[in-house]
Amino acid sequence: MRTKETAKSLYLKQVFSKEDDILRSIRNHSEKENVSYMQISAYEGGIVHFLSKALQVKKVVEIGTLYGYSSLMIARALPEDGQLFTLDIEQKSQEKAKALMQEDPSAAKIHFLPGSALESLEKLKAEAPFDMIFIDADKGAYLDYLHWSNKYLKSGGLLVADNTFLFGAVYGEPEKEPSEKALSVMKQFNKEVATSGLYNSTLIPTAEGLTVGIKK
Ligand SMILES: C[S@@+](CC[C@H](N)C(=O)[O-])C[C@H]1O[C@@H](n2cnc3c(N)ncnc32)[C@H](O)[C@@H]1O
Repeated sequence: MRTKETAKSLYLKQVFSKEDDILRSIRNHSEKENVSYMQISAYEGGIVHFLSKALQVKKVVEIGTLYGYSSLMIARALPEDGQLFTLDIEQKSQEKAKALMQEDPSAAKIHFLPGSALESLEKLKAEAPFDMIFIDADKGAYLDYLHWSNKYLKSGGLLVADNTFLFGAVYGEPEKEPSEKALSVMKQFNKEVATSGLYNSTLIPTAEGLTVGIKK
């Protein structure tokens, strides 16, 4: 998701946020549908790609596909035999994602799982453990997704969660008012990642906040 642009974010956009035709077509599509605010920025997508590549992840779960921008950023970091399972409650969004990225060779690494994430995660237990879990869906369920990750992420695996500033609400400067539930869940999510002892972790202060952890 994107919030207000500062000179710093514009600079990062110009220098570290290159998009090729396929990524641009996904972004154009989400802009046309007025949902680009939900999609990861090119800069944050670059961070997620960089982390996936640096940690050499191979088997990944993504919670929240939308039109596949972050899915493709991750899939491109995977080896030829890598797999990304991407989950979204909106089957139509996943169909659009597939169509938008069909020309990209990395799309073949992506398995689209439509339906409620909690139901899909139940089925995905059979594929565990995972090298990486990327959380970018309904904020009120972040703790459920974290507790699942605690069990099914392998030791040394990478946890990444987007929007963990909750539009500034977690530090008391909300740009928009979240629900009480989302706020308490997100505060607890960050606290548990930081203090449970299960992760080496930090929160990368992107515009939206990107909480990251390496499972011990
Ligand atoms: C922020 S968007 C994902 C953006 C995407 N990761 C990107 O950056 O390109 C969140 C997505 O989560 C999906 N979603 C919301 N609640 C969900 C749920 N309970 N189970 C699965 N998907 C859900 C929405 O349909 C939406 O497409």
